[in-house]
Amino acid sequence: MFAQASWSLYFLFLVASAFASPTARAGIEARAAITALTAAQITAYKPYTYYASAAYCSPSTTIKWTCGTNCEANPSFVPVASGGDGDSTQYWFVGYDTTLKSVIVSHQGTDVTEILSVITDTEFALETMDSTLFTGVSSSVKVHDGFGKEQAKTATTVLSAVKTTMSTHSTSTITTTGHSLGAALSLLDALYLSVQLPSASVNFIGYGLPRVGNQAFANLIDSKFPNLAHINNKEDMVPIVPGELLGYVHPSGEKHILDNSTWVACPGQDNDSQECSTGDVPTIFNGDIDDHIGPYDGVEMGC
Ligand SMILES: *[C@@H]1O[C@H](CO)[C@@H](O)[C@H](O)[C@H]1NC(C)=O
Ligand SMILES: *[C@@H]1O[C@H](CO)[C@@H](O)[C@H](O)[C@H]1NC(C)=O
Repeated sequence: MFAQASWSLYFLFLVASAFASPTARAGIEARAAITALTAAQITAYKPYTYYASAAYCSPSTTIKWTCGTNCEANPSFVPVASGGDGDSTQYWFVGYDTTLKSVIVSHQGTDVTEILSVITDTEFALETMDSTLFTGVSSSVKVHDGFGKEQAKTATTVLSAVKTTMSTHSTSTITTTGHSLGAALSLLDALYLSVQLPSASVNFIGYGLPRVGNQAFANLIDSKFPNLAHINNKEDMVPIVPGELLGYVHPSGEKHILDNSTWVACPGQDNDSQECSTGDVPTIFNGDIDDHIGPYDGVEMGC
């Protein structure tokens, strides 16, 4: 197992380092400066941090909202559905936050060794999206094959729970969240839900997000979710894989937690400034495996 992990890391090094150089971006041109978030802006993410963390808890507890600290942190949550087995399918839950007035969708993540093996051991090729789930999305939009297959397992069940929540609580606001693999799945869910529910207002707030798709995918995400946030902690290496060499591009909206715990907003896709993940962690050997779980403003991911 150790040997396997080492080979995965070596492979990722090849993939991540070869494409660490700045590349031209066909997407949205970033002109804004890198700016620090205010304390209030950081605090506003806190409920979503706990929702991302709560997805690590078993569905039998999230359906009753008795999962301990992560559930108690969001006392105004009304659970609607949960599922997954934490093995062949990641745990997930759907419900309504009466304070945020938003449907919440969250998928379980993985520890750093697992996410690196998901990225490398499954097919990491970029594949066209499932045209039944992602109706009308251009065939130029491609995503990680393993992430796409994992999202497809729960897509229609999640959609039906979201519809129920929207009608029960008379809302059209949806926020998807998650950490690590869970962030990748929830980013795909955000796109899927926006395609299936065109009148809904959808956003994504994720943590330790790996790269999920190609340039056309990043551009589509940017056009649909102007308020998207993917929050990266210090030298976490998961956000720099799969490598840009393989054609992977992050959407805009990175918030990076610096070594002194300042949060900065990084303009553009894959900003290569040293204050942002892509510049701060040019190869996985510049990364720190412990930074993946957090802390994100004091919250470590897990149940
Ligand atoms: C944190 O580090 C950044 C980058 O080195 C620096 O610009 C900023 O002033 C620091 N903030 C604090 C509060 O020390
Ligand atoms: C990174 O941020 C800077 C602002 O400090 C901006 O000028 C630059 O265009 C951004 N780079 C990318 C690749 O978006």
